[in-house]
Amino acid sequence: MKTLLITGGAGFIGSHVVRLFVTKYPEYHIVNLDVLTYAGNLENLRDIEKLPNYTFVKGDITDEVLVPELFAKYQFDGVIHLAAESHVDRSITDPFAFVRTNVFGTTNLLNAAKNAWKDNMKGKLFYHVSTDEVYGSLGDTGFFTEETAYDPRSPYSAAKASSDHFVRAYYHTYGLPIVISNCSNNYGSHQFPEKLIPLAIHNIKNNKPIPIYGKGENVRDWLWVNDHAQAIDVIYHNGKNGETYNIGGHNEWTNIDLIRMLCKIMDKKLGRQPGESAKLITFVKDRAGHDLRYAIDPTKLSEELGWNPSLQFEEGLEKTVTWYLDNQEWMDHVTSGQYQSYYQKQYVER
Ligand code: NAD
Ligand code: DAU
Repeated sequence: MKTLLITGGAGFIGSHVVRLFVTKYPEYHIVNLDVLTYAGNLENLRDIEKLPNYTFVKGDITDEVLVPELFAKYQFDGVIHLAAESHVDRSITDPFAFVRTNVFGTTNLLNAAKNAWKDNMKGKLFYHVSTDEVYGSLGDTGFFTEETAYDPRSPYSAAKASSDHFVRAYYHTYGLPIVISNCSNNYGSHQFPEKLIPLAIHNIKNNKPIPIYGKGENVRDWLWVNDHAQAIDVIYHNGKNGETYNIGGHNEWTNIDLIRMLCKIMDKKLGRQPGESAKLITFVKDRAGHDLRYAIDPTKLSEELGWNPSLQFEEGLEKTVTWYLDNQEWMDHVTSGQYQSYYQKQYVER
């Protein structure tokens, strides 16, 4: 039996990672540490929350008392660290929240792992989940490789870059076993509707404007969230100590082309006339410091660890739309704030 700490498991990607590990590895005990910010939603994990190898702990990764206590109590063999403030627009209005969680919180976890494992680091692993945004912004050509120099340009990516540096510092200075992965934009079920795709689906369904920043020419490289979770599984088990792996699937779209495709899918699903949803497209003021293009070169991960994405984007986007339309209750709870009472009902009042 191994015990793994997964942080941020009530969020979008974290909930997919928790579900994968809890169901695929019944011999692992998965402890999910999440403070349940606005982005943490335990309804994301309803289907697995009763499984015997799963434990939820409501707590903050910045808590210097709680985190070491959890290491002492559960004797973790590994950590998969996803908890973060993750939305670029929020980082522009409140940078310090990003420093607190992404930099201080990550360092607090690293330190607890180092202290708990100092006598025997063998078989232990601290896996830090990071982003392609640490590499900055590309022009029309080229790709981010693991060798690309860091050049973060938003408070979010600066905080993530800083956390990556701390992870490597703990590897070099204290010999902490680590891996880092830097992934491109994820899409799929259970994503908080402040991010482009779920926000657009929600607005189209409700005949509200779809806000496109600037001219919609910025390019993102989209990966199905389940493929990211699979990559994390492969890297956790087979990645080399001290290494970095870029995760992506060569799937670049300008925002406007992506939204046009989404509008076509929505017209079909909602029985609307072709072109009806696209009338909702509204160009709005650009994001400050808006990175032009992200694109991952995933060769290392594919060649060394044999991971490749499973799904084509058109199919994945259609599946994603279907999930949001079929799970209106989830969206209603998120948009009304009702999901925030789930913890109270599920874990406190019973
Ligand atoms: P998210 O915002 O959906 O979820 C973040 C989770 O972390 C939430 O459940 C939240 O409650 C929790 N959390 C936040 N602060 C915490 C704290 N102080 N203590 C404990 N828990 C806390 O984020 P996401 O999109 O699922 O991203 C997860 C990770 O993956 C992040 O580290 C992010 O940087 C990285 N990432 C995201 C993407 C993407 O496209 N979404 C791509 C690459 C990498
Ligand atoms: O690249 C990985 C990153 O992808 C992750 O590290 C971040 O956590 C994640 O939030 C995401 O960052 P982006 O800023 O790329 O995602 P977002 O969904 O916010 O925006 C995607 C693109 O769409 C971006 O170019 C900005 C644009 N956009 C976004 C919103 C919310 C709009 O045009 N309109 C919008 O309303």
